[in-house]
Amino acid sequence: MKIGGTHYRTIWPRADETVDVIDQARLPHEFATAVLRSAEDCAEAIKKMIVRGAPLIGATAAYGVALAMRREPSGKALISALDMLRATRPTAVNLRWALKRMHDALHNRGHGERFAMAWREAAAICDEDVAVCRAIGAHGLKLLRAAAAKKNGAPLDILTHCNAGWLACVDWGTALAPIYMAHDEGIAVHVWVDETRPRNQGASLTAYELGAHGVPHTIIADNAGGHYMQAGRVDLCVVGTDRVTRNGDVANKIGTYLKALAAKDNGVPFYVALPSSTIDWTLASGVDIPIEERSADEVLKMTGRLPGGAIATVEIAAPGSPAANPGFDVTPARLVTGFVTERGVCVPSEEGLHSLFPQ
Ligand code: MRU
Repeated sequence: MKIGGTHYRTIWPRADETVDVIDQARLPHEFATAVLRSAEDCAEAIKKMIVRGAPLIGATAAYGVALAMRREPSGKALISALDMLRATRPTAVNLRWALKRMHDALHNRGHGERFAMAWREAAAICDEDVAVCRAIGAHGLKLLRAAAAKKNGAPLDILTHCNAGWLACVDWGTALAPIYMAHDEGIAVHVWVDETRPRNQGASLTAYELGAHGVPHTIIADNAGGHYMQAGRVDLCVVGTDRVTRNGDVANKIGTYLKALAAKDNGVPFYVALPSSTIDWTLASGVDIPIEERSADEVLKMTGRLPGGAIATVEIAAPGSPAANPGFDVTPARLVTGFVTERGVCVPSEEGLHSLFPQ
């Protein structure tokens, strides 16, 4: 997607065999890139959320393995890079998926060919993510066209939570890809952007992306979505996900479950957009998904820009009060209207997933 007229991916290899990423910890106040020179740099970038979003976490980890192979292409170095990168964030299964793919591509290779092979495989993971997200966009676009046709030219109001746009992937995004495509073909869309406390990925990243592409949107407090649904001002919801289990349960950014409940109560369709790399076939249901517990500071403090331009972090809570900070929640399959995948749309169940991914 474009920033200031220039096309960017979120991650790309450099000629000197290091990796550039967009530094998402600095958005929306500053557009900057960061260079990742080692597997350790990649692990830190994932942990510090310089890169985030399930598909991009996987892509960055893949390049982390490649950078480890550049330094030392031994089997021992491969296993230790895989272990270090796997320990960075627990919920998004795309991380495990990408690392398994790197392991399978590399473990039987000779030392002399490992780095070149790893570099190619990481690039392939990125290229495939772009193609998959484009396909998700095309399938989701059909749903948006049908919903827009009922609006007699009035804008289609879509609510989304967190950031499942191109910043969360390599390009296009999952939940936002159909919205970009609808906007580009002239369908009037308007997006309600949940701010997504505590880290504000909605207010800072989704709003940034949509604004850069010219898509009309409004940031709302996380608690406002139910009100707008009751008032008939949300036509459909579409969110991304970090892990979908075999029965169709969906882990996504904390607060997604409450939006799905409100959508169900108000008869608002609730779609989840996902690449097949987000399906965890090993888990029968969402109860076993590991939920990341993040720092209490994210709840107790907020970071923003002061009028003079400086970035500052301020305390917002009663001094001394503790805080809990689960990063994700699980939305049961029964609250989801449909999955939008690279192979089409299916019902959120084991049968539905198998109908598109029989293998
Ligand atoms: O903690 P984050 O910012 O990595 O969480 C991101 C999300 O919850 C996204 O909705 C999810 O990864 C899907 S991204 C296409």
